[in-house]
Amino acid sequence: MQTHEIRERFTNHFVATGHTEVPSASLILDDPNLLFVNAGMVPFKPYFLGQQNPPFPNGTATSIQKCVRTLDIEEVGITTRHNTFFQMAGNFSFGQYFKEGAIIHAWKLLTNSIEDGGFGLDPERLWVTVYLDDDESEDIWHEKVGVPRERIQRLGMEDNYWSMGIPGPCGPCSEIYYDRGPEYGKEGGPVADDSRYMEIWNLVFMEKERGEGTGKGSFEIIGDLPKKNIDTGLGIERVACILQGVDNVYETDLLNPVIKIAEKVTGSTYEDPQADRTDDIRFRVIADHSRTAMMLILDGVTPSNEGRGYILRRLLRRIIRSARLLGAQGKTMDAFMETIMDTMQPSFPEIAESRERIRRTAAAEETAFLRTLEAGTHLFDNTVEELGSAGSKTLSGERAFELHDTYGFPIDLTLEMASEAGLKVDMEAFNAAMTQQRERAKADNRAKKHAHTDLSVYREWVDNFPTEFVGYSELEASGKILGLVSEGISQPEAQVGQQVEVILDSTPMYAESGGQMGDRGKIRTPGGILQVDDVQRIGKKLWVHRATVTEGGIAVGENVTTQVDQAWRHGARQAHSATHLIHAALRQVLGPTAVQAGSLNRPGYLRFDFNYTEQLTAEQVQEIQLIANQAVDTDWEVHTVETTLDKARDMGALALFGENYGDTVRVVEIGGPFSMELCGGTHVKHSSQIGPISVLGESSVGSGARRIEAFSGLDAFKFMQKETALAAGLATEFKVPTGDLPARIAGLVNRLQEAEKKVEQLRRAQLAAQSAEFIAAAHEINGILVVTGRVHDGISAADLRTFANEARGRLKDREAVIAIGSHDPAADKAPFIVAATPAAVKRGVHAGKLVQLLSGYLKGRGGGKADMAQGSGNDIAGLEAGLSAVKAEIEAL
Ligand code: SER
Repeated sequence: MQTHEIRERFTNHFVATGHTEVPSASLILDDPNLLFVNAGMVPFKPYFLGQQNPPFPNGTATSIQKCVRTLDIEEVGITTRHNTFFQMAGNFSFGQYFKEGAIIHAWKLLTNSIEDGGFGLDPERLWVTVYLDDDESEDIWHEKVGVPRERIQRLGMEDNYWSMGIPGPCGPCSEIYYDRGPEYGKEGGPVADDSRYMEIWNLVFMEKERGEGTGKGSFEIIGDLPKKNIDTGLGIERVACILQGVDNVYETDLLNPVIKIAEKVTGSTYEDPQADRTDDIRFRVIADHSRTAMMLILDGVTPSNEGRGYILRRLLRRIIRSARLLGAQGKTMDAFMETIMDTMQPSFPEIAESRERIRRTAAAEETAFLRTLEAGTHLFDNTVEELGSAGSKTLSGERAFELHDTYGFPIDLTLEMASEAGLKVDMEAFNAAMTQQRERAKADNRAKKHAHTDLSVYREWVDNFPTEFVGYSELEASGKILGLVSEGISQPEAQVGQQVEVILDSTPMYAESGGQMGDRGKIRTPGGILQVDDVQRIGKKLWVHRATVTEGGIAVGENVTTQVDQAWRHGARQAHSATHLIHAALRQVLGPTAVQAGSLNRPGYLRFDFNYTEQLTAEQVQEIQLIANQAVDTDWEVHTVETTLDKARDMGALALFGENYGDTVRVVEIGGPFSMELCGGTHVKHSSQIGPISVLGESSVGSGARRIEAFSGLDAFKFMQKETALAAGLATEFKVPTGDLPARIAGLVNRLQEAEKKVEQLRRAQLAAQSAEFIAAAHEINGILVVTGRVHDGISAADLRTFANEARGRLKDREAVIAIGSHDPAADKAPFIVAATPAAVKRGVHAGKLVQLLSGYLKGRGGGKADMAQGSGNDIAGLEAGLSAVKAEIEAL
């Protein structure tokens, strides 16, 4: 049974029993605690906690959620069990059915025959576990379902008590296992062998809330959730293994084609009995990571050096390196991406419209990484050469670390290349350097974590007193102080000079979100005034005003008047609406593959990031700017509508990833189809109110992502005014009208280049003349004309080479050697060079050896071939003695 059919059966089973089908959320959800969605229940968290009412008619839902877990990337491929991406199918009950319902639903789907829409698993092969004290579940399994008691086992906190690993909903669980048979391990149920007995479904009885704590087994239970809920998770890929009769996910219809294509492009064979087992790991890394990387790019992640982008970068680089180690030459990413998109598309049809973008993003990273590899290879080759001349057989740990850290060389690549060059790597020193780096990173992380505020102080308000936002229509409103927080602690009052966070029951101030910065303004109480300089949202529901008391004092419970700074809001509206126009214009010019990746706007300024692999041309930027300003000029009306996500999609509204579905959404529309986006921001009423939009520039932000920056409103005007003044200033300086500036400057640049050329010619002529002088003063030794001496100070190594070549050219038909040095006072270096004519080489002169000889006298290094060699010394004082030694050497030939 193909994977997409397994998905369909799951969904049909639960939809038939009244569950609302909910599409998978994006892998990237707006939760600061999670890098990626890692379980099916994540998007439903607010419903479990009772923060929001589930918008499902029967209070039940079903989903197949994309999940990514990247904690143990290094483990991937070592066994066949770890995968960084998987699909978790689940059914959820929010205060509706509980243990019995969940158990019976699961059992029916697993054991119903294929004809009846089930998975047709043999009930005799199914085992279950329950939490230590959960007699109720055991009784349901035995009495209502008929599982014999000997196939029901009990496990503790670590295994059968589920939480997200962070404070939040949790509860005991019951897991269903499939016995794969004696060839997979020993008898005795999941407690004895969790490889033979493969976990396929976890039923979580979500009824408690947990607090802080570490590990799976030690956290405090804070209390009961408002209702008893169900959260289940079935591993689609695991069921696919069973139903497709294969050992592991790498053999299923999803990943096996990637292994096959990897065999083709690398020339190696998967599970080749002759080959090293590490080759198999590489194949599995390619398959697993290709899929995860593809799904991450699909959801808008682009490679970068931090956060999610860094994970993606690591995945892509591990693919490239594995392919290389398997023998691939050149680029392979396209082949992997195309294949994995093919296998995943039946389950994720949205891949179809993003294929080109995904392919391009991955390919761009490959190109970049191959370039780094090339630079690293260069360093590696130099190192090998150095070690060769020093007679050493060990590559230092520091160099291996530099290759890793600066050039992205994974250690196994260094090891392999070293072994090819007959070298060992000092792994002890390398590991020590790695450990140090990890310590630094940890310290860094700790520092970052502390920067996060502990959110528990807001808890009560988030749960019970969400802020009412009235700022779409009002700029001034009355309200009441519900709470004051200072340094993470709730306070009854605050005095003049103090910084506090103010929680109000109702506010007209916009809190930072959707790229728009929070409002600025004032809060007035009967006895005090606060200046607000930021507003943030917590849990999407609570507005926290960061403010300073500028007059008097304030206290919880007081009535207030809150005023948004009108100029600020005016600018914020202009910038946010301008962002929408730029976005629309950009898609008109670049096409729909330019997907929004993030944005920021504040009064007067905006920036907009989007996925696109090529640099924009100046014409494209001009066109985007023109279209956006034409839209301003057209004076479109701006409308906002609240509707459902489905309707918004039907209207053609653009959404940024990470939207929470189920809620009503707000669509902002400027000029109808011209610009329609899901957006909670504040906007102008007519596009002409935006004023001018002036694009500042376009740049790259990590591979595959670009950024447009622009000014809006009066700031755009001021920017243009400055540019005009600049041009006018230049025109005065150059004494031409502004329109003639380009021609004038081009003319000057031309003349400058001509002049530089002339200077260069003169310098060469001078060098040539000097070489003639040196030749004239040369003596024959042993029948060989030896041209030596110290060339004037300050000439570069390249000039020295020109000099030597010049002299050698003049003497090409004779037996002649040129050995010269110079002093570069700026770098305090002494470059030197030896050149020999073909006839001299025939006589046995070896320039490389003579340079090595000179190196000793000048305290430096150098080398080269028999006819030309160069070096650099640290002590010019040794030149004379060195040249004498060279002469003696020639004498002795
Ligand atoms: N949340 C549980 C898990 O991730 C069940 O869906 O295993």
